[in-house]
Amino acid sequence: MEVYDAVVSRRTIRKFKQRNIPFRVLKQLVNAGRLAPSAANLQPLKFIVVTAAKVREKIFGCLRWAGYISPEWNPAKGQKPVAYIVIINNLEIAAQGHFERDSGAAAQNIILSAWEKDIGSCWLGAIDRKKISEILKIPAAYFVDTVIALGFKDEKPGAVKWGEDCRYYKGKDGELKIPKRAMKEILHRDKF
Ligand SMILES: Cc1cc2nc3c(=O)[nH]c(=O)nc-3n(C[C@H](O)[C@H](O)[C@H](O)COP(=O)(O)O)c2cc1C
Repeated sequence: MEVYDAVVSRRTIRKFKQRNIPFRVLKQLVNAGRLAPSAANLQPLKFIVVTAAKVREKIFGCLRWAGYISPEWNPAKGQKPVAYIVIINNLEIAAQGHFERDSGAAAQNIILSAWEKDIGSCWLGAIDRKKISEILKIPAAYFVDTVIALGFKDEKPGAVKWGEDCRYYKGKDGELKIPKRAMKEILHRDKF
């Protein structure tokens, strides 16, 4: 899959098949995160891979899914993520004012690398950071930035033309529809 095709076809996945992702694949995803651009090349990130069923269940309790239509798109039992990658950011190392960009670049590298392997993911920022820190025994210097939920796709969300607003919704086919602003609205050339 070409990078551009991955970028264009990727959608957030919140329903997952219960098929495990081999640890070597998860390690490849972390490698994709590790090699992301980093402000001043400080590389303040660490990545915690969660696969153990008990820990997964605890992390699941710290996440909020698809806020606009909550709780409708909460993954049901039998469709929960089979793994997580938790991105944590050492704020004693990170470049001031840029730390969230490092995490964002790493997250997107992971998400696109997963998509290429047919693995869906959800970038989660609405998370209980304090609880996650406790569960995973994360040292105080680290900010729990992002949780990426992972698993093979069990839904087919699609991008649609921007209608009234940004809110995604359940389409007539039962799949999630995600409005995207049109090119003519966002593209400027040579001046605003
Ligand atoms: C910084 C950030 C935080 C997000 N947090 C959540 C979240 O907490 N829960 C969730 O279900 N989706 C979350 N998302 C996913 C967005 O809802 C999703 O990317 C958006 O609706 C567009 O859909 P798409 O990814 O399929 O294009 C987050 C995305 C980003 C970039």
